[in-house]
Amino acid sequence: MSRGQYPSTRMRRNRQTAFSRRLVAETRINTADLIWPLFVVEGTNIIQNVKSMPGVNRYSIDCLQDQAAKAVEMKIPAIAIFPSIDTELKDDSGSLARDGDNLVCRAVKAIKSAYPNLGIVCDVALDPFTSHGHDGLLKEGEILNDETIAVLCEQAIHQANAGCDIIAPSDMMDGRIGIIRAALDGAGHQNIQIMAYAAKFASGFYGPFRDAVRTGALIGKTEKSTYQMDPGNSDEAMHEIALDLAEGADIIIIKPGMPYLDILARAKAEFGVPCVAYQVSGEYSMLCAAFNQGWLDRETTITEVMISFKRAGADAVITYFAPEIAAILNQS
Ligand code: PBG
Repeated sequence: MSRGQYPSTRMRRNRQTAFSRRLVAETRINTADLIWPLFVVEGTNIIQNVKSMPGVNRYSIDCLQDQAAKAVEMKIPAIAIFPSIDTELKDDSGSLARDGDNLVCRAVKAIKSAYPNLGIVCDVALDPFTSHGHDGLLKEGEILNDETIAVLCEQAIHQANAGCDIIAPSDMMDGRIGIIRAALDGAGHQNIQIMAYAAKFASGFYGPFRDAVRTGALIGKTEKSTYQMDPGNSDEAMHEIALDLAEGADIIIIKPGMPYLDILARAKAEFGVPCVAYQVSGEYSMLCAAFNQGWLDRETTITEVMISFKRAGADAVITYFAPEIAAILNQS
């Protein structure tokens, strides 16, 4: 395509006025694009702040209800609930994941009955429940794939029974999407969606999340690199996504977000399916650290990052900034 040249073409003409900038804007963000991750703990009337995530708290179920109310009021379509399990309840095999009355299931039930139209997402992975902090069963230093999937299926069915709308396997075991799909279908949950963490990289940016769910000290310096992906691999990410889609994933997640926008853009272009970016805890904390120093402007920056996710191809974004972004959008 031939394009004009200066001086007949002046790119700044369209940028001169606010109305014109609005008219030519290619990417817009909306409260409908948001998924808000929330942490839940046992007890009542508890709000504990997560030190490495300024402004983010762990809530007991009663207090989590108020946050769910806020999500509804702010028109945030869905929340993702992550349990922070008391250490004495964790064991080697993450048994509590197989208990339909565990913390996350009780939280889902409570919120679903109060706010039936608010979407609820639950992770499927064993890390909140294992004494070693790994997402799967650990035997002689090895994460067992197929044995782990059997437990994940039970976990997913309990969460679906509790009222979870979207099951989000974040464990990165091979073949788990298809097997979990079949297990959900077998339990009468044909309409429960699966949002697969399809391309999940072994990332340093998960550090603050591991503080929030109290797995950090357990996992220590050991790596999740035998199941999470090598940050350098893009073709492999496409392969992972193709497999998850073939196995029945309805939506795919690319994670982390900002350092992996190329993966997101490629995934959207190659597959044309619903894509979700997860702006993870470390991305949140890194930005907050700069905001708190006065080095970056909060509103401008969080809006810009959100637009970047959408521009790169995200249909929705999982972000700890969700209520803040919703507040900005609701007021404008
Ligand atoms: C656990 C899980 C993790 C995150 C979501 N689910 C951490 C991990 O894999 O170690 C990270 C989210 C974040 O950092 O915000 N399967």
